[in-house]
Amino acid sequence: MATTTEQGLEVLLSRDQIATRVREMGEQITKDLKGEKLVMVGVLKGAAPFLADLARSVQVDATFDFVAVKSYAKGSRTSSGAVKLIKDLDEPIEGQNVLIVEDILDTGITLTYLRKIFLQHHPKTLRIAALLDKPSRRLEQIDADYVGFSIPNLFVIGYGMDFAERYRNLPDICLMPAEGA
Ligand code: PRP
Repeated sequence: MATTTEQGLEVLLSRDQIATRVREMGEQITKDLKGEKLVMVGVLKGAAPFLADLARSVQVDATFDFVAVKSYAKGSRTSSGAVKLIKDLDEPIEGQNVLIVEDILDTGITLTYLRKIFLQHHPKTLRIAALLDKPSRRLEQIDADYVGFSIPNLFVIGYGMDFAERYRNLPDICLMPAEGA
C-alpha cells in the first residue's frame, strides 16, 4: 500500500529515500572533483532544498550561486528559445568547476538554455545534478551527469517542487492529487 502524509498526499519518494540518494550523489561528486573547488549553481526556486542537502553531502571546497529563469514555453512546449534569465550569476565562472543543481529535468528546455549560456563563460568543467529526471518528457537532447531518481511522467510536489507555489516545504516528494480528489 502506498504511504500517505498527514495531509493525505501519496508519497512517491520518502525523505529517507531522498536523503540516502542525495548522500550517494554527494559521494560521487566528491570523487569526480578529485579535491578541486566547486561552484554549485542552484536554479531557483525548486532546487533550493536539494542544493542545501547536496552541498552538505559533498566534501569539497564549494561556493554557492543562484540563477532564476522564466520559461515562456511552459504549457505550450514548443520553443527552446522561450526561456529568459531573470537573475544572473553573481560571480564569474570562468575557469571554475561548475555544477548546475536542479530539482527536475523535464523537457530539458531550461537546462539546455542554461548550459548554452554558461558555456559562453568558459568554465573549466560544467556538470548537471538533477534530483529527478523525467526522460519520457524530453524535447531537448540533454542528460544530467548526476540523477537522483528517474521517474515516469507524474505531477510531483514537495522537496522544493510546487503547485501554484505551494507544497515546496513538504519533506517528502508526493504526488499531486487529481483535481477534486
Ligand atoms: C522547474 C524545474 C526546472 C524546470 C525543468 O522549474 O525547477 O527549472 O522546471 O523543466 P524543463 O526541463 O521542462 O525546462 P519551474 O519553472 O517549475 O520553476 P520553480 O523552480 O520556481 O518551481
